[in-house]
Amino acid sequence: MENITVLGAGVMGHGVAQLFATAGINVHIQARRESSLEKARELMTNNLKVMVEKEMLSTSDMEQALARVTYTTNLLEAVQNADFILESIPEVLEQKQNIYEIIESVISDKTIISSNTSTFPLKELTQRTKHPERFIITHFFNPPQLVPIVEIVKFDKTDENIVNKTYDLMKKIRKSPVVLKKEIPGFIVNRVQVAMLREAFHLIEMGVATAEDIDIAMKGSMGFKWAFCGPMESQDLAGLQTTKSMVEKIMEDLSNTREVPSFLKEMVENDQLGIRTNQGFYNYDDHGEQAIHTRDDHFLDLLKLQNSKENKSKIISSSK
Ligand SMILES: NC(=O)c1ccc[n+]([C@@H]2O[C@H](COP(=O)([O-])OP(=O)(O)OC[C@H]3O[C@@H](n4cnc5c(N)ncnc54)[C@H](O)[C@@H]3O)[C@@H](O)[C@H]2O)c1
Repeated sequence: MENITVLGAGVMGHGVAQLFATAGINVHIQARRESSLEKARELMTNNLKVMVEKEMLSTSDMEQALARVTYTTNLLEAVQNADFILESIPEVLEQKQNIYEIIESVISDKTIISSNTSTFPLKELTQRTKHPERFIITHFFNPPQLVPIVEIVKFDKTDENIVNKTYDLMKKIRKSPVVLKKEIPGFIVNRVQVAMLREAFHLIEMGVATAEDIDIAMKGSMGFKWAFCGPMESQDLAGLQTTKSMVEKIMEDLSNTREVPSFLKEMVENDQLGIRTNQGFYNYDDHGEQAIHTRDDHFLDLLKLQNSKENKSKIISSSK
């Protein structure tokens, strides 16, 4: 697959386009406004400059990657020769359905359409499409150019050949794809995340810990381990008899609420939205942008470490 088109140039779209470009693949990125494209170009350039500073790319790699990106506001021009279209426009079902209807009128029958949706099932996304069998979900995580995982989600109509091609493409852009065996709301990661957040919110509500205490505890435990040793591997290493008794003792005491906690509703009503309004669980006093830079800097260091470990394990396995 040589011609890739990313629809939407926002938080996710620019990062996904960057992944294709750094993997040596030409990519068209389309948005409705020139200003969105200009912003995307600026963000990609800055992201790649930091990778050069960290010696993850050479200056010429960066220049070549940037030259592989074509920017356009013309939707039909962006998609007409595409082999793979990755839709990353806002999470509004009607907008997504509209755009599929428009692009299906000009693309070839072989073109794959993937959505970066976090919430809509394929059955709803494909309600008005001619070829539902070509649709698939590729769910990236923010920032997509750094977080390794992509959840690939198919439904009963998705052609298996399309699943395989999508998997291979995700590998080619150096992601770690996981194909879900069946479609389920929230996929894998957000289900596990929300289950964990339910308990963390419960601990805050009960006055057991502050938000900051929870962050310190999780960064120093699960956060430290999970980049290299997943939750299931960790149980094997600890011993499953210990896991069984821990689950037996604690499970019955955990929150099983189906309600959003009232403190979270109040925060949102009072415009405490996180860095966007400078106030969330923490106060940002205009250093929200800096918080993103610091996060990305740490993620890049971790990615560099993971890449070097992966290369090492490849060397070991090939010398066996
Ligand atoms: N932000 C996240 O953390 C995150 C994580 C995973 C998945 N997602 C999913 O990715 C998708 C995009 O989210 P985002 O956060 O990048 O949104 P965003 O609002 O930052 O960006 C959306 C972009 O699409 C453009 N756009 C809007 N309507 C369009 C149209 N009709 N045609 C072409 N472009 C259009 C906008 O101008 C903007 O550039 C959503 O489906 C979202 O659920 C987001």
